[in-house]
Amino acid sequence: MRRALISGASSGLGEAFTLALVKEGMDCVIFARRIELLEQLQMKCHVIRANSVMILQLDARDTNALNILETFIQSNALTFDLVINNAGFGYIGAFKDMQENTIDDMIEVNVNFLTRMTYRLLPYMNPQGTFLHVSSLAGSMSGPYMNVYYATKNYVSAFSLACDIEFKPLGLRSLAFIPGPVHTQFGQVAKAGSLPIFNHVKSQDVNSAIQAALKGLKKKQRFIVSHPAHRVLLFCVKHLPLGWVANIVSLLQQKRTQ
Ligand SMILES: NC(=O)c1ccc[n+]([C@@H]2O[C@H](COP(=O)([O-])OP(=O)(O)OC[C@H]3O[C@@H](n4cnc5c(N)ncnc54)[C@H](OP(=O)(O)O)[C@@H]3O)[C@@H](O)[C@H]2O)c1
Repeated sequence: MRRALISGASSGLGEAFTLALVKEGMDCVIFARRIELLEQLQMKCHVIRANSVMILQLDARDTNALNILETFIQSNALTFDLVINNAGFGYIGAFKDMQENTIDDMIEVNVNFLTRMTYRLLPYMNPQGTFLHVSSLAGSMSGPYMNVYYATKNYVSAFSLACDIEFKPLGLRSLAFIPGPVHTQFGQVAKAGSLPIFNHVKSQDVNSAIQAALKGLKKKQRFIVSHPAHRVLLFCVKHLPLGWVANIVSLLQQKRTQ
């Protein structure tokens, strides 16, 4: 039986990945902080296929989180064909107004945990296994007024590509998933409910984003863009000066924060 590990599966993209993979016949190990949501998802998956999902309550900000995860993996003798580094969150607002603990938490979850989880999981990967790192359109530009989030996703895209080159000789792959705005709890968590950029860039429903991700996974694309319109946007971004793009992002987001 093929098996996936998915971080941040209590809602949004992680939840949708879990359901889609179980339907495709994979077993899943999922974790997040909200255990009651994980239990509900486990029950839904149980109806699709009995005992297809194992759950673990884990806070990626906890310094002991990876030790807890590794102990769980070892005590259940688990190995993985797919690891989806999905847990993450953003914050909309001026950098100067951010709480220091929000900055720390975002870098901890979006960058440090993702990096260390990849490292720790290497010995538990099956041959031909794949890491899928959930980045973002934000990972291709600077994002004034959502500054730290954009910077973390730039890290994720760069890290994923470098891993792919290093892991290929080991028989593993590392791919980046690049969604644009998707209808999940992300906006609510980032306080971006009616954020202008969420209205200007075409947003996508979570299931179509996941289907695009699974298609890209099968094709082993290094950068899996979730929507054709976002591909056009990325093409434009790559051919404009970085400063121009950042100024446009700033204009789109600034009013919201005033
Ligand atoms: N939605 C978008 O527009 C969009 C666009 C581009 C990229 N993304 C990326 O997609 C990924 C998933 O986000 P989403 O859109 O599905 O948002 P979401 O519905 O808010 O889901 C975020 C998931 O991350 C988990 N998470 C957050 N902090 C965590 C922590 N400290 N420890 C463990 N799990 C944690 C949450 O679980 P708990 O709260 O239960 O811990 C939740 O399951 C993120 O990396 C995000 O940056 C989203």
